[in-house]
Amino acid sequence: MATGPAWAATVKVGVIGPFSGPFATAGQTFKQAVEVYQAMHGDSAGGNKIEFVYKDLDQANPAQSKALAQELIVKEKVQYLAGFFFTPDALAVAPLMDEAKVPCVIFNAATSAITEKSPLYVRTSFTLWQATVPLAQHVYKTGVRKVVTAVSDYGPGIDGEAAFKTTFEKAGGQVVDSIRMPLKSTDFAPFMQRIRDSGAEAIYAFLPAGPTTLAFTKAFADNGLKDKIKFFGPGDITQEPDLPALGDAAVGITTAFHYSRAHDSDLNRTFVAKHKEKFGNADTVTFTSVGAYDGTHLIYRMVEATGGKPDGAKAVEAVKGLSWESPRGPLTLDPDSRTVVQNIYLRVTERVNGALQNTEKETFAAQPDYGYKLGK
Ligand code: PHB
Repeated sequence: MATGPAWAATVKVGVIGPFSGPFATAGQTFKQAVEVYQAMHGDSAGGNKIEFVYKDLDQANPAQSKALAQELIVKEKVQYLAGFFFTPDALAVAPLMDEAKVPCVIFNAATSAITEKSPLYVRTSFTLWQATVPLAQHVYKTGVRKVVTAVSDYGPGIDGEAAFKTTFEKAGGQVVDSIRMPLKSTDFAPFMQRIRDSGAEAIYAFLPAGPTTLAFTKAFADNGLKDKIKFFGPGDITQEPDLPALGDAAVGITTAFHYSRAHDSDLNRTFVAKHKEKFGNADTVTFTSVGAYDGTHLIYRMVEATGGKPDGAKAVEAVKGLSWESPRGPLTLDPDSRTVVQNIYLRVTERVNGALQNTEKETFAAQPDYGYKLGK
């Protein structure tokens, strides 16, 4: 008989994300960051080997998300679900999580209400409320009084719109028009006309990071709006992998966000260097990378706390209130919202030594998810 811990086993983690299609870079960042975490911290926790299984969900598709999660739980026998770029995909798995008592570690999906749907969700990304409340306060402080909001018409966009309007109007500003764009829009010309006609001094925009933000931000510059209307938003709109293609269209945009690849810390420099070492470059490193890196950290801690045994409730209980250092800065998992409390940084997209980056200018320390159970 082999000796060792009674339950020493391989713990499987099922990661659902876009590994093909227009948002494939996001899936790639999940996988790379998990591999970087394992390179830095080993592939076992509490004597249990941790194995990641990846499932491709190329777009927001809740029915397929549920089917993939079912397959991971029943056939692959995963003890944890993780990943989830799009909100509807994360929401769709709540009934399965509760039934099978499988925790889900959200690497990205950012609508506040998700973690209200099951006590077994934990989130290491951010929420739109978290990034937008300090941003709206900043926009008011710059002297801007009239803003148009433009968001993708689904969970995180609607949260961003509400967070901006509530905060900005409470300060004394006015949202003069609220534009909602279909999630699958690729032609933004009609919206540019409406933005121009709104008479706003500034825009607040949210779209899911990737080809969507790229096309919107390019259209904004190409339609001559950049010199007339100040551009603000959460950092999805200037995420690092898109900066080379955005070029001058991104310069001067002010964003509030939890992660910049240019964040000045030793751990972030190591994090970026590890990507270069393992994958030849760090061109994809962005906010979804730290979402996955810190999500992996939580999975390791949960596996340790449960001795590798399947006990979803105990696993989640063990990480409530946990604090640790991330490449983005200090994190604490809020015991109620189960979303990380973190610094939100005010950044400006600048050219530094020829390359574009999001330079952090100001820190709004320890921001909670202002949207959790709002009004409930
Ligand atoms: C989401 O669907 O929650 C989502 C997707 C992409 C982002 C942010 C949030 O960049």
